[in-house]
Formats: sequence, C-alpha cells, structure tokens
Amino acid sequence: MTDNANSMWGGRFAAGPDAIMEAINASIGYDRRLAPQDIAGSRAHAAMLAACGIISDTDAAAIREGLLTVLSEIETGDFPFSTALEDIHMNVESRLRALIGEPAGRLHTARSRNDQVAVDFRLWVRDQCDQVDAALAALQQSLLGQAEAGADWVMPGFTHLQTAQPVTWGHHMLAYVEMLARDRSRFADARKRMNQSPLGAAALAGTSFPIDRDMTARALGFDGPMGNSLDAVSDRDFALEFLAASSICAMHLSRLAEELVIWSSAQFRFVKMSDKWSTGSSIMPQKRNPDAAELIRAKIGRIFGANVALMTVMKGLPLAYSKDMQEDKEQTFDAADSLMLALAAMSGMVADMTANRDNLKAAASSGFSTATDLADWLVRELGLPFREAHHVTGSLVALAENKGCDLPDLTLADMQGVHEGIRADVFDVLGVENSVASRMSYGGTAPAQVRAQITRWKEVLT
Ligand code: ARG
Repeated sequence: MTDNANSMWGGRFAAGPDAIMEAINASIGYDRRLAPQDIAGSRAHAAMLAACGIISDTDAAAIREGLLTVLSEIETGDFPFSTALEDIHMNVESRLRALIGEPAGRLHTARSRNDQVAVDFRLWVRDQCDQVDAALAALQQSLLGQAEAGADWVMPGFTHLQTAQPVTWGHHMLAYVEMLARDRSRFADARKRMNQSPLGAAALAGTSFPIDRDMTARALGFDGPMGNSLDAVSDRDFALEFLAASSICAMHLSRLAEELVIWSSAQFRFVKMSDKWSTGSSIMPQKRNPDAAELIRAKIGRIFGANVALMTVMKGLPLAYSKDMQEDKEQTFDAADSLMLALAAMSGMVADMTANRDNLKAAASSGFSTATDLADWLVRELGLPFREAHHVTGSLVALAENKGCDLPDLTLADMQGVHEGIRADVFDVLGVENSVASRMSYGGTAPAQVRAQITRWKEVLT
C-alpha cells in the first residue's frame, strides 16, 4: 500500500484516487449527520462481538469507550473530518484507530459498510418519524385552539373558491386537524415497518462469524433483525415511505398555507397574521406579506422532489448494494429539515393569527350562501321535488342579483312572485347562523357538532 492509497482498503491499490474521483465519491459533507447513529450502531456491534466470543471483552471495552470519545469530539466540533476518508463510517473508524490503536481494527469484523449505512440511515429516519410526529401534534394543538375560540363563528364555505354554504371557523380548523392525524398515522405506520435491523447482513450475504443479530437489534431499539441479508442492505423503501408521508403532509401544509395567504389579503381580511409571522415591503409601506405561509406552500417542491429523486435513484438497481444508494441521504435530510421547519412555522403562525369574526360573518352572509337552505326549505315545507326547488331557488337568486341585494333582503312578495306557496317563515332559514346550526349531521358544520369534535380531539391529543 502506498501512502496515498486508502488506509481502509488500500491493500490492493498502488495509488490514491483522482481528485475528482474523491469529490464524486465522498459523502462526508452530509452523512456526518449520521454520526450519533453510526456510533450507536458500532457500540452495539462491538458489544455483540464480545458477547459472542468473536473479539475480546477488553477490545470491546476499548472500542466502546473510544467511540464515546469520538462522539464527543464530533459534538464539540473538534473532529477532524476528512474527505479522503469518504464517509462518516470511515471517518469514525479511522479516528477510533488514532485514539485506541489496534483494537479499532477489530470493530469491522462480521460487518460491512453496507449494513452499517443501512442501520445508520434507518435509525436516523426512525428518529425523524418521532420528531415529525411531535411537530404534527403541536400543530394540531394550535389548530384546536383556533377551533375552540371560534367554534360557532360563521364563515363562507367554498367550492371552486366560490361561496358555497356557510360553515363555522371551528369546522374549517378541525378539517386540518383530521388531515394531520392521518399524516401522523402514515408516519407511525412507516416507522413500524422500518423498525427492523439490517445489522449483521454484512456486505450482502450474511457472515460466517457466529453473530447474534437479535442482540444488536434489541440494543438499537429494533423489533428484530431483517430476515434477508440481500434485502437488508439494498432497500431504501423505509426512506421512501418517510418521503412519501412527508410529501402528503407537506401537501396538506401547502393547502393551509394557501388559505392563509388568501385569507390575510386585503380582499378577504378573514385573518390577521401576527407581526411575528409577517414581513413588510421595502417600497410599499402598506404591505404585510405572509412570507412564512408562502414559503411553507413552496416547501412541498423540495420534499416531493426528494421523493421523486430517490424513487428514480432506486428504480432498476440490481440487488444488492450499489453506490447509487449513497444518493439516498442528502435529499432525505433536506426534505426532513424542510418539513420540520414548515411544521414549526405553521404551528406558530396558526397559534398567533387572529380571525376576524365580523369579516368572516359578513362574507358568509353574501354571495347567496344560504341558497341551498332555501331549496331545502322548499322541499321540506312545500313538498317540492329537489330539482324543482333548485330551479325556484335559482330564479330567486337571479331576482336578488337583479335587485342588487342578497336573499334575505327580498320581500315576501318578491318570493311569492316566483312561487306562490312561499311563507314568511322561510326567512328563518336564510340567516347564516340558522343555516350552520341546522347542519347537525355527524361531522357537519353545526356548532354543536364542532364542539363535540373538539371534545373528542382534546381527549385524543392529550
Ligand atoms: N457512504 C456509503 C453510502 O452512503 C456507505 C456504504 C459504502 N459501501 C460500499 N460498498 N462502498 O452508501
């Protein structure tokens, strides 16, 4: 081995790599984030090697102790990261050798970087699932707080972003609580499936050493070892599930973000974002821009991009490991960071925003929002078939439009001119408060239903 050849595998190499080769090959620039997982994995592996009589207890103790020193060096920023050493695994092992000498060389017995990286990355993604879950729970709490404050505040419900029927603010907030609950269950499902240990799969075929894979699996909090060594080192579906769940979650966040952008505009004025979550314009003094909401809306791009990128990397790769798979980490890290930031910003924004009850109600009362209530009244009280009731209501809406007023502003005579059977009590159903109160079907927008759901969510989220 020459001085330039890699100290980890330079035995058959006469020369070191080209500088560009080193640049394309190195992952240490980003996989250093796996240091805590790498060291936990190595410590579990060393303990198991000793327990199985593969290395001595003394060597295992030196390795385990030395790895803690390496970890603290990394944590304090004192670690000499080297690009020549390619990745976190070789950086850690090389430093361990500098610290403890010969026993360090025994750590890699019955192991390969292939199962090592698979275990590190699984542990990292598993931890992210837990962090995302906590962040989602916090956002649900923010939304629940808003729902409780305005359980019976009336606002327009939209379809096609056209006024459809009045709904309640609490109901709208709870819609997102539901979506985020499903997001949480997607991360929980993915976490459960990924919680199996690849460690001990070695390069691809397993090992001839009498290792105990249950022991390392247990030590690392896995439910058990993976049953096929080729699969263990070569699939990244766990990261893809995380990215898919993240994409769906970010899609939900982007919809809420879009609503906040619309609602905080001068044309809507449904909500006022707090100063903490708004920015001004350097030229237009009147501006209060919802930048955080816009950026949350945009984060889906990177997150979904990471999902597509890793799917594309993995598709068509023959079993088992290929270096292509090194491209699994950087974008997953970025997607996880982006999602966590978006969740934190959304929680803060939602908790601090103020809904304008009066503006919500004024908007709910315009745009003929109780037309369906009128049609339902015609069916219920006059026995009209719904299609005919729809037609009569349409004529009344046209009449109101011509007169430049809303439905409750028509006179009884106006109404009877369209259908003679209409009585004065029709006006009861044309008010938005009555409209929402009548929507008592389970999961409907009536304040009583919304309060029941709030009670349920409070129990679920504690
Ligand atoms: N840095 C590598 C990765 O992230 C570690 C595994 C390398 N394995 C190998 N056979 N070269 O995938």
